[in-house]
Amino acid sequence: MGLIILDHPLITDKLTRMRKVETNSKDFRENLNEISQLMVYEIFRDVETIDIKIKTPVGKTVGKKIKKPVVLVPIIRAGLGMIHGIVSLLPSCKIAHIGLYRNEETLQPVKYYAKAPDDIARCTVVVVDPMLATGGSASAAIDIVKEWGVKDIKFVCLVAVPEGVKLLANNHPEIDVYVGALDEKLNEKGYIVPGLGDAGDRIYGTK
Ligand code: PRP
Ligand code: URA
Repeated sequence: MGLIILDHPLITDKLTRMRKVETNSKDFRENLNEISQLMVYEIFRDVETIDIKIKTPVGKTVGKKIKKPVVLVPIIRAGLGMIHGIVSLLPSCKIAHIGLYRNEETLQPVKYYAKAPDDIARCTVVVVDPMLATGGSASAAIDIVKEWGVKDIKFVCLVAVPEGVKLLANNHPEIDVYVGALDEKLNEKGYIVPGLGDAGDRIYGTK
């Protein structure tokens, strides 16, 4: 598995704003969307392209287009908070949804929803969730994406800890994992330290 830490100063500056306990939902959401846009710009740096012949108003040339269609897969709820920024750069992408929540006692993911476009197996799939804690949710989401027949999968998150990275490396060694920051550890309740708290609650103002 490739672990790519996208610690660009613009990303780190915005992430620092999100981490602050006093940041409200509006600012949290705005920074999350802006970071998601910056991350996808980097993630697609090496994407496969094909040559296409085009005419400009003054001549002919050979341009490029991204070879494979892209499907985003936000893990509901918090992953939805990253979609707007990514779609602003990939306006033709399709979006699948996977609904998972962590059981608060066992920390195991519980699936409640999954729906994907019919042609997802031939696409580049980008699974997005701001938090990679135990890694259980990301690993279960990637299991579902693989059950849909997808081979080309990337996982993107904002804050990860070594525990989650290790689980993904064990369960999905072929997948590249892009993170905005690698934090220190999990606490006894399974929260990332220092982290940013419960991403879903901070996005939607539910606590
Ligand atoms: C959060 C987060 C991830 C998961 C990460 O979701 O958005 O999906 O926890 O934890 P893990 O790596 O230990 O599985 P949560 O379960 O709080 O659901 P929500 O997005 O609906 O709030
Ligand atoms: N999920 C979150 O939203 N935050 C954490 O710190 C861990 C899991």
